[in-house]
Amino acid sequence: ETGAITLDPGYKNSGSCKSEITFLDGEKGILRYRGYSIEDLAGKSNFLEVSYLLIFGELPTAAELDKFETTIRKHTLVNEEMKNIIDGFPKTAHPMGVLASLTSALTAFNPKSVNVSNEKEMYDAVCKTMAKFLVIATWTYRKAKGFPLNYYDNTQGYVENFMQLMFSLPTGPYKPDPVVVDALDKLFILHADHEQNCSTSTVRIVGSSHAGLFASISAGVSALWGPLHGGANQAVLEMLEEIQANGGDADKYLAKAKDKNDPFRLMGFGHRVYKNFDPRAKIIKKAADDVLSSLGVDDPILDIAKKLEASALEDEYFKSRNLYPNVDFYSGIIYRAMGIPTEMFTVLFAIGRLPGWIAQWKEMRVNKEPIGRPRQVYVGETVRAFKAVNER
Ligand code: SDX
Repeated sequence: ETGAITLDPGYKNSGSCKSEITFLDGEKGILRYRGYSIEDLAGKSNFLEVSYLLIFGELPTAAELDKFETTIRKHTLVNEEMKNIIDGFPKTAHPMGVLASLTSALTAFNPKSVNVSNEKEMYDAVCKTMAKFLVIATWTYRKAKGFPLNYYDNTQGYVENFMQLMFSLPTGPYKPDPVVVDALDKLFILHADHEQNCSTSTVRIVGSSHAGLFASISAGVSALWGPLHGGANQAVLEMLEEIQANGGDADKYLAKAKDKNDPFRLMGFGHRVYKNFDPRAKIIKKAADDVLSSLGVDDPILDIAKKLEASALEDEYFKSRNLYPNVDFYSGIIYRAMGIPTEMFTVLFAIGRLPGWIAQWKEMRVNKEPIGRPRQVYVGETVRAFKAVNER
């Protein structure tokens, strides 16, 4: 962290990369965006500021933030013909699958954003992506509900717009609850980037072939969808609801999670890197208490989650494997209290992670990194003579 680092020259072909964006220390539970601690950013900043920081490397001045937000607002209209695409999906389609398709389809209506060859084109592509992704992400919910698709309201903020895009109806005025907006803003900050996780590595490697930004983000959405990754926040709620439906016996599910013959894993627990508390989980756990009490929601699911966490943290199997709650363990409980449907939880993860994906794609392209080609260790057959079919 403080000494000079020497990179193995082979790093270029190893699938690993250099980055200046996010630092995390899994042993100490440290997470920093561009050197700023996640605790400071979640407590003192806002999502658009943090998005700017991740993408451009510095916290914006007031003028820079105003230009960023104004440029995003210029691009919030989505081509009306995109509605023909979303109309092709059944209402039962999972929102993440619809979002991945719509994100890729944005290229068809914005072909210029495929090849950004200068700073101005990059800036526009960044703002266009921030703008249109938020709108189409909410369209996945509106389509599933059979509601009319909403438009961005340029008189409201970015996070306020998420709520109005999701929930405002032509039947009357809609004003999002400031408690909810504030909590969502914090949650989006906590999800904004996380170094070379599965979906971010996907965005980088797709972008390294010089595929456009929309196509690269679309690939990231697909990777995030998996229940071992971003899909875990939905899986946590489904697990907690199942525990509740089965009499709230958390210990029975702990036993299942420890049984090697049972594929069940404790969703929201464990991490590829954190072998200590995920710092984001600590912040979200506190936010869950604050939001539920501010909204006057008394959700027994939160009590089950706390009981499950307490038992797991004392359990030898989990302790010996350094398994702690991760970012997904408590986030769904807050989303549920906000009235967000479970199948939309991972879409919210994607909205939060979008600036991180953009930042990492931009870094890889600005640094002119080579096309991704991860190394493999071949462990297959040695050379052997071909056999005719009647000899096999
Ligand atoms: C995210 O990479 C990132 O940064 C991702 C993310 C981000 O911001 O982008 O942080 C977001 O994806 C968070 C993780 C969300 N996923 C889940 O909550 C799903 C449940 N968790 C697990 O499936 C698991 O912990 C993973 C997928 C997160 C990590 O899997 P690993 O790397 O295989 O876990 P490991 O090697 O550390 O496991 C060590 C042991 C193994 O048992 P043994 O072989 O030693 O006997 O712990 C066991 C695992 O079987 N284990 C679990 C477990 N997680 C690991 N056992 C029960 N329940 C679990 N949740």
